[in-house]
Amino acid sequence: MSETTNRSLLLHGVTKSYETATGAPKTVLDGIDLRVEPGELVVLLGANGSGKSTTLKIASGMIPPSTGDVRIGQTDITRMRGETRRQSRMKLGMVFQDARLIRRRSVLSNVLCGTLGRHQNIATMLGFLPRSERPLAMSCLDRVGLGALAGQRASTLSGGQAQRVSVARALAQKPSVILADEPVASLDPESAEEVMTLLATVARNERLAVLCVLHQIDLARRHATRLVGLKKGHILFDLPPSAVNDAMIATLYTRDAA
Ligand SMILES: Nc1ncnc2c1ncn2[C@@H]1O[C@H](COP(=O)(O)OP(=O)(O)OP(=O)(O)O)[C@@H](O)[C@H]1O
Ligand SMILES: [Mg+2]
Repeated sequence: MSETTNRSLLLHGVTKSYETATGAPKTVLDGIDLRVEPGELVVLLGANGSGKSTTLKIASGMIPPSTGDVRIGQTDITRMRGETRRQSRMKLGMVFQDARLIRRRSVLSNVLCGTLGRHQNIATMLGFLPRSERPLAMSCLDRVGLGALAGQRASTLSGGQAQRVSVARALAQKPSVILADEPVASLDPESAEEVMTLLATVARNERLAVLCVLHQIDLARRHATRLVGLKKGHILFDLPPSAVNDAMIATLYTRDAA
């Protein structure tokens, strides 16, 4: 089977309706078709409430779609249960706005946490981390340029370093796909540039499919292989950055436009 069929992320006909207090369901995603190939960094743009995080939560298997399916390669992750579901979720590395590190543990221990899905046993249930994965965890830290900080407490890191450690933790899962929801929202411009460069590099060099939500248009234009514009639960465009003009971007953020 080709690399593309094995490791791409595909959302097909995805809709999502949430129950509301009034009883009438609210449709927040309406027919999302999206494919991210290995090596690509696809950036999802859209106004607040347009459905970006909902798209990522469905792509990660965190919440189910109302209809449609999500595939990694040939595997439909929306219909998995139990052990097979756990194994498929290991293929998805997550990066959030806040790095979500365990502050009192070392940087290396935090990266080791990314391997826990492969080690469900009494020792790990008691809080021990798998020593056998230390070389892999070190190599993941080296790949994000922070090998020298392995023994440092996570609480001492700057925001940009913490986010790079969270990327290393995601890499330790040995994922096919990385999903990042506003990974640079809390970072200064220089750190934001570093983290986006890192995500683009891991996509390209490690042949990962990376789907990332951003509000920073300039960063998106510089680093994305494709820009996907979402408005009120619909995809308005899915194009390389060079084909997206300022008017198309403006439409995403204009409240009264269709
Ligand atoms: N659990 C929920 N129950 C009901 N409505 C929800 C739920 N989660 C999200 N929504 C609604 O779905 C819509 C899309 O939310 P989502 O978080 O996906 O937006 P977003 O594009 O990520 O916005 P932002 O840029 O502010 O992060 C919003 O109107 C939100 O209020
Ligand atoms: Mg969001």
